Amino acid sequence: MDRPINSPECPASSAALADLPCESCDTGRVLAARDVVCRDFRDALGSFATGVTVVTALTPDGQAIGVTVSSFNAVSLQPPLILWSLSCNSPRLAAFRAASHYAVNVLAAEQQWISDCFASRDDDRFGPLETSQGLAGAPLIKGCSAWFECANEVQHPGGDHLVFIGRVERFARGDAREPLIFHGGDYRQLQTTAK
Ligand SMILES: Cc1cc2nc3c(=O)[nH]c(=O)nc-3n(C[C@H](O)[C@H](O)[C@H](O)COP(=O)(O)O)c2cc1C
Repeated sequence: MDRPINSPECPASSAALADLPCESCDTGRVLAARDVVCRDFRDALGSFATGVTVVTALTPDGQAIGVTVSSFNAVSLQPPLILWSLSCNSPRLAAFRAASHYAVNVLAAEQQWISDCFASRDDDRFGPLETSQGLAGAPLIKGCSAWFECANEVQHPGGDHLVFIGRVERFARGDAREPLIFHGGDYRQLQTTAK
């Protein structure tokens, strides 16, 4: 995959990632230097537990693409809108921007290997997967907890990420009820508490 083309929405000079604790680049926990990201900030963000999704689409020449994404969230019920964000460094950014539709595949607890696969450097991410075709051909991954098929409605610049807002045109829930969870840089399982 090619590197993305620089655009006004995604400047080439995104923040330098300094893998330093905040004490080394700042006093306290105040992010004074706008061009430096300290490890403590990323760790603090990681304390927010999320689910895990794989967002899929087709490139203009019909190739299936997908990326592991935990930034997925609900935006609006009426109209039905969701959001997610993609790094400006993603080689798949241009293809996602151009796609008329994409699909958000919500991963189930036993699909951690799929999350790893779509977060890897491997270009052949769909190899062992069973999929069906969603709107505009966006791949729907078998065995997920839910699927949201979205029109690629709006994209907003968000620093070193591009924020996608999608209009949900079709959705479904799967049989898998236990979600895959990501927290503090690790996968987790929900612990069911007795009632
Ligand atoms: C659990 C998890 C959640 C992730 N969430 C996001 C995300 O929301 N946005 C993003 O750009 N990258 C996210 N990533 C990183 C990408 O999946 C990873 O960088 C992947 O290689 C991107 O694909 P690309 O090489 O096509 O850009 C996440 C990775 C993991 C393991």
